[in-house]
Amino acid sequence: MRYNFDEIVDRKNTDSHRWNLVNKLWKDKDGLPLSTADMDFKSPIEIIQAIKDRADHGIFGYAFIPDSYYEAVINWVKSRHNWEIKREWLICTSGVVFALNTAIVTFTNPEDSILIQTPVYPPFFSIIKNNNRNLIENQLIYKDGRYTIDFDILEKQLSSGVKMIILCSPHNPVGRVWSYEELKTVGELCIKYNVLMVSDEIHSDIVYSKIKHTPLSSISEEIANNSITCISPTKTFNIPGVGISTAIIPNKKLRDEYNKTLIKMAANGTHNIFSILASEIAYRHGAEWLDQLLPYLESNANLMEMYIRENIPAIKFSKPEGTYLGWLDCRQLGIEHENLRDYFVLRAKVELQDGRLFGSNGLGFLRFNFATPRSVVKEALERIKASL
Ligand SMILES: Cc1ncc(COP(=O)(O)O)c(C=O)c1O
Repeated sequence: MRYNFDEIVDRKNTDSHRWNLVNKLWKDKDGLPLSTADMDFKSPIEIIQAIKDRADHGIFGYAFIPDSYYEAVINWVKSRHNWEIKREWLICTSGVVFALNTAIVTFTNPEDSILIQTPVYPPFFSIIKNNNRNLIENQLIYKDGRYTIDFDILEKQLSSGVKMIILCSPHNPVGRVWSYEELKTVGELCIKYNVLMVSDEIHSDIVYSKIKHTPLSSISEEIANNSITCISPTKTFNIPGVGISTAIIPNKKLRDEYNKTLIKMAANGTHNIFSILASEIAYRHGAEWLDQLLPYLESNANLMEMYIRENIPAIKFSKPEGTYLGWLDCRQLGIEHENLRDYFVLRAKVELQDGRLFGSNGLGFLRFNFATPRSVVKEALERIKASL
């Protein structure tokens, strides 16, 4: 079946976070909000149909997670990422941020140091701070439009008492898909300095041609035994509103402790029947849809790269290796950083995510969500050009 990602689906008045809440323009019928990371595409038809069929049954009683759910996760991870995982390693939770937060609460104490690599997804900051942990910022190196890890500083930081690192792999917002070598180096440093690794791999299915995502724990048994990996089909298949993720914890001791926290929080019991169903169906039947989506998204990214280079050269943008998020370096525009987002909102009627939310090194940057029909990407770029 051929999917039509050019279709414009009206999302206004759906209680959408992006379209109806954070978007300052939401009352403006012409406003284009391209901020929060969900897509403007309908999910695979199999998911929509399965939810409809389940709803038609009319009884929504307590449910358990069937073995078929875990099988679907295992098969997906093997077929897309060539990583063999075992049923007993898997713990289903209600979302990736929740799963990361559970790891913080389980494996660190107040005042312990947790390291993140900035600029990074804003909740990484809040879950550390809200739990009274000490945030250690490892700033990524930005050179010639590409971000890399500063391993010298990282080693210094890890050697001075850091308890946990939260990796964003692939990385939101900078779009890097960390290479095998980069991940291996980080993994080995963490083993050397006894730092537990939590790897947020929610964006792992959205990587572009010739690039391969490496699951951190697939690198070696030692790294797997020192890692918690969080995955989810929600970004991949545009179902983040259903709220679900799987934590993969090969080390039994860590897994038992993690489970104890879930029990304490009464978060080990019943699960939302629609999220389990949507997730399983996505993993079982979504590959064809995803295989059509990826080139579509990549063409959007190519279009952005070309358009910006030719028409708005004061903005620097390099196509990401993964994720559907473009990270625009707007520092040469000559607009005060504080006013950058509002400038685009008011002048271009395009709302992008403020780079400051991703850390101090996000100042002067904006994040552009290009998981939207190509005509919308074009329109947004044209408006930005005209506004400048
Ligand atoms: C890196 C990263 N982790 C987690 C999430 C959200 O995960 P969840 O909705 O499952 O909590 C996002 C959403 O944008 C993200 O970019």
